[in-house]
Amino acid sequence: MKNIWISEAFKGVVPNDYQGKVGWRSPSNIALVKYWGKKGKQLPQNPSISFTLSECRTETFVEYEKADRFGFSFFFEGKENPAFGAKIEKFLHDNQVYFPFINQLHLKVESRNSFPHSSGIASSASSMSAFVMCLLELERSLSLSKGRPIDMDLRKASYFSRLASGSAARSVFPKMALWGKTEAYEGSSDEYAVSLSEYIHPVFKTYHDSILIVSGETKSVSSRAGHALMEENPYASARYTQANENIKNLLASLKSGDLDTFINITESEALQLHALMMCSNPSFILMKPNTLSILNEIRAFRNETQIPLCFTLDAGPNVHLLYPESEAEKVEHFIKENLASYCVDNKWIADYVGDGPKKLL
Ligand code: PMV
Repeated sequence: MKNIWISEAFKGVVPNDYQGKVGWRSPSNIALVKYWGKKGKQLPQNPSISFTLSECRTETFVEYEKADRFGFSFFFEGKENPAFGAKIEKFLHDNQVYFPFINQLHLKVESRNSFPHSSGIASSASSMSAFVMCLLELERSLSLSKGRPIDMDLRKASYFSRLASGSAARSVFPKMALWGKTEAYEGSSDEYAVSLSEYIHPVFKTYHDSILIVSGETKSVSSRAGHALMEENPYASARYTQANENIKNLLASLKSGDLDTFINITESEALQLHALMMCSNPSFILMKPNTLSILNEIRAFRNETQIPLCFTLDAGPNVHLLYPESEAEKVEHFIKENLASYCVDNKWIADYVGDGPKKLL
């Protein structure tokens, strides 16, 4: 495929006095239909759909200055962090063809998360998309300095975020995003995500996601290793067929506001993700006893009250409790009374569907 995002404008020399600082914040997202299994250059084996979150986010600032050769330092929450920085450096190195100007700059990157490091919340979607937004902002400012202005293009931001960390592709859009080619949605692509914010029923635009922190430990199996295990998973092809079917039906329910179908698919997807982990070789279990207790409590409460709340899980033990804004008071009471005691220090994060990345500088 011809790459449409290699810009001729940036192949020349960076002006000598070129320096400045850019800043963006970008949110995490929670998948409803899960991306689990990849192919090629960070392409998904099946399409996925997510809510863009609001409170779980990363703020990143990049200070740049003309230099003879590429220079780079990375600070996470005030401290130099070479391990984290190495991931970004590798991304820049692997993709320098798209950003040739990088080789004439020194970059100092400073990043911080709104959520505690030990909350077990995956930060690669928010951190990588925040960094990519900064990179595109830098490219934009360079284009202005050369008198050839370009606009910020969210599809392009999604494309590069995907190359940095698959699920980050979905974080650049407000409300909801779809990543991966499906016949059920025109314009969808494996290369980048597309926005669903104009497509979905209003009930989903203000959805809540209360994240119940069952464990703050870092994951015992990285998502990179998890994706790789899908290559030999005996259920892989059945999984990809099912995910495609779930995408089709979830899309229909997102449009109509059919919460029964939404709940059915969302919970089934969460359990399937963990079932796939449990039947890979080697197998692994990321749920904790308190995870299961919470799932059972949620289902019992739903049966009893008919309130349309449901759960989803990421690749970890924490539970994302999803519900419409109209039910927030009752569900928050339920969390305090019945669920908080299963959480570390009775802690949960009150998050909700958000508006996507925001420029800070
Ligand atoms: O973006 P990655 O490579 O960290 O993979 C994310 C995988 C899940 O979070 C488990 C599911 C998803 O679609 O976000």
